[in-house]
Amino acid sequence: MTIDKNRVIIFDTTLRDGEQSPGCSMTLGEKIRVAEALETLGVDVIEAGFAIASNGDFEAVSQVAELLKETTVCSLARASLKDIDRAAEALKKAARPRIHTFISTSPLHMEHKLQMTPDEVIERIISSVGHARNLCDDVEWSCEDGTRTEEDFLYRSIEVAIKAGATTINVPDTVGYTTPEEYRIIMEKIIANVPNSDKAIFSTHCHNDLGLAVSNSIAAVQGGARQIECTVNGIGERAGNAALEEIVMAFRTRPDVMPYHTGIVTENIIKTSKLVSAVTGLDVQHNKAIVGANAFAHESGIHQDGMLKNAETYEIMTPESVGLNKSELVMGKHSGRHAFRVKLEELGYALGDNEFMSAFTRFKDLADVKKTLYDDDIIAIVDEDMRDNDRMALTSWSFICDSGKASKATFGLQVDGEQVTVSSEGNGPVDASFKALRSLAGGSPQLQLYQVHAVTRGTDAQAEVTVRLEEDGKTINGHGAHVDTLVASAKAYVNALNKLMVKREKTAPAAMTR
Ligand code: KIV
Ligand code: ZN
Repeated sequence: MTIDKNRVIIFDTTLRDGEQSPGCSMTLGEKIRVAEALETLGVDVIEAGFAIASNGDFEAVSQVAELLKETTVCSLARASLKDIDRAAEALKKAARPRIHTFISTSPLHMEHKLQMTPDEVIERIISSVGHARNLCDDVEWSCEDGTRTEEDFLYRSIEVAIKAGATTINVPDTVGYTTPEEYRIIMEKIIANVPNSDKAIFSTHCHNDLGLAVSNSIAAVQGGARQIECTVNGIGERAGNAALEEIVMAFRTRPDVMPYHTGIVTENIIKTSKLVSAVTGLDVQHNKAIVGANAFAHESGIHQDGMLKNAETYEIMTPESVGLNKSELVMGKHSGRHAFRVKLEELGYALGDNEFMSAFTRFKDLADVKKTLYDDDIIAIVDEDMRDNDRMALTSWSFICDSGKASKATFGLQVDGEQVTVSSEGNGPVDASFKALRSLAGGSPQLQLYQVHAVTRGTDAQAEVTVRLEEDGKTINGHGAHVDTLVASAKAYVNALNKLMVKREKTAPAAMTR
């Protein structure tokens, strides 16, 4: 058997580190949809959650583990026996399980966060990795804050982790502090100085606080790492994680200087990006590399002229290579079921019969009020339909907005299977709507952001609204789309309340101490 020494393992942590993004939270159904899309995208390992964090996380890891047959499914666990047992329990039906356990190794984290001595940390590495290895053959160990760890202690802790049974060693740049050159050297030196380094695969995990996460990840591969931990659209804690699509397309576009390759089916990048954006409520900035709305748009006359003569003048990769379909088959009210199904397949949606009929009905309703439907209209319909608003859903609405008077909004909703009506007055119809809906979830959610944008062109375009709510330091984003901006706003608010209820169940695991 020949070993492909330039094959890089893609470890996707959209469902774990990505879900830790401010404002982001996914329901169980949404996590399953993302996990299926990641498998189709061709990622090698999916970190499906942090099993001990909440019952919701446990359920997500177990269901993803049971569902996926090709991809390795991983759960995060602190270096405690309880965490590791919970991870193993969640993974028990996985075809390819992995336990990922971690502990901090930098002086700052050991002293202030863990309040442990270096020797105590070493003991904990031996007991936690050993315990994980007794439960699972595939064990990853991470030295949290690895890039700020003293060299000798880093080598010593990695050596004991490998001896205790770790098969992958991840060296995270937890706070996004390192630089490409420095990180490449850290990797090279670890591999050269740790006596048993040939018994493990080395991994990179970069945060983007200085905007260097992708460059740092690539540098680590140049230094000998063969696994990259990343997320779709680069979502993650604070400034995010390394963006999967950017790394993969960098390798694909510049094999002359980066002779590495992955198992990613790059043609599925755009649809996975859109799915992640829809379920997390985190918009992709328009000028973002690879997946931003402008990534393949050419505005200036000189560029357009060049493009018409030869696309390679200004395009270093084709839109098709990332799954961007420029042809945009336009749909309208005369389009039938067959055309709609073909369009859905082209956009990467495989819907069951009931889901298809529901999406088709919404498509027809929209086509009655909007002459031309573009791809993004159809994506908005399907994403809205597939959204897991399991606790509450809007069923009817009425807005009264007269000059010189307070506005009034009234809604009918299904809440936990019961029909409910809520109504309120306010300074304009949006204020009235949010006041009326706010009472439904109890607590005291505060509105932090209200944003509207048109999905496509024209005054009949659907409005896509994002609402961000904050409660007790937790933020969540809700999304809603409709041709009527007021209805889209109410839908976004209801979506945010549904997510808030999921988030309330989840308590962030405290930092481990002795
Ligand atoms: O950033 C980090 O250090 C992490 C670890 C838990 C791998 O996410
Ligand atoms: Zn991280």
